[in-house]
Amino acid sequence: MKRDVKAIVKEMTLEEKAGMCSGKDFWHLKGVERLGIPEVMVSDGPHGLRKQAAEADHLGLNESIQAVCFPTACATACSFDRDLLEKMGERIGDECQAEDVSVILGPAVNIKRSPLCGRNFEYFSEDPYLASQMAASHIKGVQSKNVGTSIKHFAANNQEHRRMSCSSEVDERTLREIYLAAFETAVKEGKPDTVMCSYNRINGEFASENHWLLTEVLRDEWGFEGYVMSDWGAVNDRVKGLKAGLELEMPGSGGHTDKEIAEAVKKGELDEAVLDRAVERILNIVFKFADNRQEGKFDKEEDHKLAAKIEAESMVLLKNEDILPLSAQGKKIAFIGKFAEAPRFQGGGSSHIHSFKTTSALEAVKDVVQVTYAQGYDVKEDVVDQAMLDQAVQTAKEADAAVIFAGLPDAFESEGYDRSHMRMPQCQNTLISEIAKVQENVVVVLHNGSPVEMPWADQVKGILEAYLGGQAVGQAEVDVLFGKVNPSGKLAETIPYKLSDNPSYLNFPGDGQTVEYKEGVFVGYRYYDTKEMPVRYPFGYGLSYTTFEYSDLQLSADRIKDTDTLKVTLKVKNTGDRAGKEVVQLYVADKTGSASRPVKELKNFVKVELQPQEEKTVEMELDKRSFAWYNTRIHDWYAASGEYEILAAASSRDIRLKKTVYVESTTELPLHVHMNTTIGELPENPRTKAVIEGMTESLIQHMGGSSDEEEESAASQAISKEMSLKMMENSPLRSMRSFMGMSTEEIQELIVKLQAAADNR
Ligand code: BGC
Repeated sequence: MKRDVKAIVKEMTLEEKAGMCSGKDFWHLKGVERLGIPEVMVSDGPHGLRKQAAEADHLGLNESIQAVCFPTACATACSFDRDLLEKMGERIGDECQAEDVSVILGPAVNIKRSPLCGRNFEYFSEDPYLASQMAASHIKGVQSKNVGTSIKHFAANNQEHRRMSCSSEVDERTLREIYLAAFETAVKEGKPDTVMCSYNRINGEFASENHWLLTEVLRDEWGFEGYVMSDWGAVNDRVKGLKAGLELEMPGSGGHTDKEIAEAVKKGELDEAVLDRAVERILNIVFKFADNRQEGKFDKEEDHKLAAKIEAESMVLLKNEDILPLSAQGKKIAFIGKFAEAPRFQGGGSSHIHSFKTTSALEAVKDVVQVTYAQGYDVKEDVVDQAMLDQAVQTAKEADAAVIFAGLPDAFESEGYDRSHMRMPQCQNTLISEIAKVQENVVVVLHNGSPVEMPWADQVKGILEAYLGGQAVGQAEVDVLFGKVNPSGKLAETIPYKLSDNPSYLNFPGDGQTVEYKEGVFVGYRYYDTKEMPVRYPFGYGLSYTTFEYSDLQLSADRIKDTDTLKVTLKVKNTGDRAGKEVVQLYVADKTGSASRPVKELKNFVKVELQPQEEKTVEMELDKRSFAWYNTRIHDWYAASGEYEILAAASSRDIRLKKTVYVESTTELPLHVHMNTTIGELPENPRTKAVIEGMTESLIQHMGGSSDEEEESAASQAISKEMSLKMMENSPLRSMRSFMGMSTEEIQELIVKLQAAADNR
């Protein structure tokens, strides 16, 4: 049924329309019974359903219905598996249908700028392309069930410290390339029904009243057609927000801001057409849900199994010195650590799910082998309990191998506040080191939402990163530890050795009023790799129980226009004796020198499953955006003419194959020629290049360099032709007065000629 929403809006009173622009309560939109507008519900999100029936809050304090907690985004991003995320989205969509939830609040695609952000567990990656792909798949999955999503938190919300007032100071290029890019691609590809604007300000302006962000970028440029809702309590000036493009305020404000809207219309301060359009946008999505209800299933046991599968496909094997998979036969294995018995599998705050059950590793392992167990540490406070430690060391010593389940306790990371350091609790670090002294076969399994320092990494044989793996994490861990599942996750973020290595270190979390993103586009591996800095584990890294070989990299052309699409193919072979999955990553390295850019950037990836000795050809595409950077001279994406390397890689530091493509730009950058234009800028334009090349010889002579190789003057010995050319590049046109004896008038004439050439007149 196609509703005539415009006609419905016409029937509404001013007060009804204003009322439609804020929630009825914490989780519902208002309805208008006489016009058949239903009250619909929204709920958190993102990795499962947090539907609160009674006492509502946005920090996960009060109980919600029993549901299934899927692995959090920090884990699922490591799957690099679009289909898997879509599948998870479908299930969540089904659950929403069964529970009558019209929009589920997520996915969250904010970039992991610092390991300290308390909410990193809810976010996908330090890389905007990966984040956008995971988000778009999640959105497609949920929305295939006629349930809306709300991609959040738009935008530049990368810390919890003063999140409701702090201004993220980000330059235009960095915003576009890093912080908006994840939203942009997800909005264009996933078409979410709603977008949630963030709490913070961006360059001084609240996201909730930022016209440039909510209208010019989101709607006019990216083509977003749904409605924008505020994060809970993010509204500052309601009328300004509405004008800027914030349709729905959440939660309700007791009618106060509805009155402000109606008043503003009456006083002529707000065009009623702006209100009508906002209501129309909200109603389109309300009716999209209400008119397309489908039978939803909420089979908790089935979803629990899927949660285990997703986590097993996401875990990252960081280290394996011939210890994993563990053999269940004839070996005495000890499981150590509280998280073996009571895993930490989700983070605190608004995404906190009331899980209907949890599978711990200790429980799951019962189906495989009998293990011994010792708790080892306490999660409530970070103190070494000597008796607990001694018992754990003894249990580990008596076994053939010890698996230590460690990580960050709840208090160490959560929505609402940031971490103050990157360390694990001292009691856990001590436990691992003490056990490593008596047991040579140690595997550490980590439960954390963001990187931790690993001072014991060289003392253990295996490290498995489980992240915050959802309620079935224990099952997934046992499946990977004992080889039922071959691990295939790859890191969606770099793990640095220490916090001070991180590029935002000196500018996080700011002074409370502002936070300056001074590292610019050099976020995560873009920084570490460009700086050639050693890291504990690089972006895109992860081991398997088998090995893969890459060969035969082919490009569909060795020269393209920036408007063309380049097809890239290569062969991947499983060279081991176990079936496994490999994530083939495609990075692009800009060799044109047209801007200061990271040495490489991820532009595509594919996950491929291979039987032992099987070989497959994989294909990926690259388009203009894969080569481009955001050029603030034209306020647009720009791929300069020149060479780009295409790198097929197993991680950002493990480049297996490369080829070069020449990209020809179809964009001509505008050039304004004036007295202080340097000679080096002129060759950027082909026509000014021709003019200046015609003058090169005489310029060189005047600079004192020899243009004639035969002529061996003293001056030419001091300054070679190459040196002269290099020096000239940095000379402004006005310097021709001093060095070439040109008059100001002659230079001005030259400028007119150059400008005419630049403008193609
Ligand atoms: C969070 C959002 C969440 C909302 C509703 C806010 O505090 O930032 O992510 O969706 O609360 O719970």
